[in-house]
Amino acid sequence: MKKTLLITTLVCLIGLSFAFQQTTVKYENLKVLPKNTTKKEMDSIMRHFSMSLGVKCNFCHIRNNDAQKTMNFASDSSKHKQIARSMYKMMNKINKKYFKPEDDENRNMANNANRIPQVSCYSCHHGKENPENRPPAPSAPPPAGTGAGAPRT
Ligand code: HEC
Ligand code: HEC
Repeated sequence: MKKTLLITTLVCLIGLSFAFQQTTVKYENLKVLPKNTTKKEMDSIMRHFSMSLGVKCNFCHIRNNDAQKTMNFASDSSKHKQIARSMYKMMNKINKKYFKPEDDENRNMANNANRIPQVSCYSCHHGKENPENRPPAPSAPPPAGTGAGAPRT
């Protein structure tokens, strides 16, 4: 009786591990994100990239040359994708070197996609492809005679 239970458990475990293998996505061309990044993590990181720059996926990813125009996410032909990789490395360096690693908020995004690092893509980009490096000019004083208090003629 005990033996059958053991065998059944083993068979179940083996079956489970096969099922897991099949549902795990294998990304083909990761150079900065960990190779074992899950689909959930990838979706969250890619959404962060897109929202931070105010762009869609096709800003960094090219389409396949097929009738359905499916996306080729693994391809590196987009210049923007390559820039994004070096931006990601820069971002990690900044966080590691200048912010406390024990700080919960400062975890590497790739280790925990729910945690956004202190300096993230959004910190600089604020929804723009190219971050602004100048603060807005001080607003000019209203021309003489047109201000709210100016007497009407
Ligand atoms: C700002 C650029 C940028 C945007 C926008 C972007 N991605 Fe990515 N994506 C990358 C980079 C860079 C990598 C490669 C990461 C690496 O090398 O570890 C990547 C990798 C991927 C991969 C893994 C491909 C593989 O098999 O290697 C998928 C899937 C993906 N992106 C999906 C998306 C989706 C879906 C969107 C839109 C929601 C999106 N990306 C938006 C830059 C971007
Ligand atoms: C410390 C500030 C900073 C952070 C953080 C940052 N960027 Fe950037 N990024 C810039 C600056 C500045 C430029 C513009 C460079 C230029 O004009 O030559 C830029 C340009 C880019 C470009 C090129 C845009 C174009 O129109 O060609 C991409 C793509 C990009 N960043 C992606 C990212 C992604 C993805 C992240 C997060 C992983 C990120 N950046 C984080 C400062 C930053």
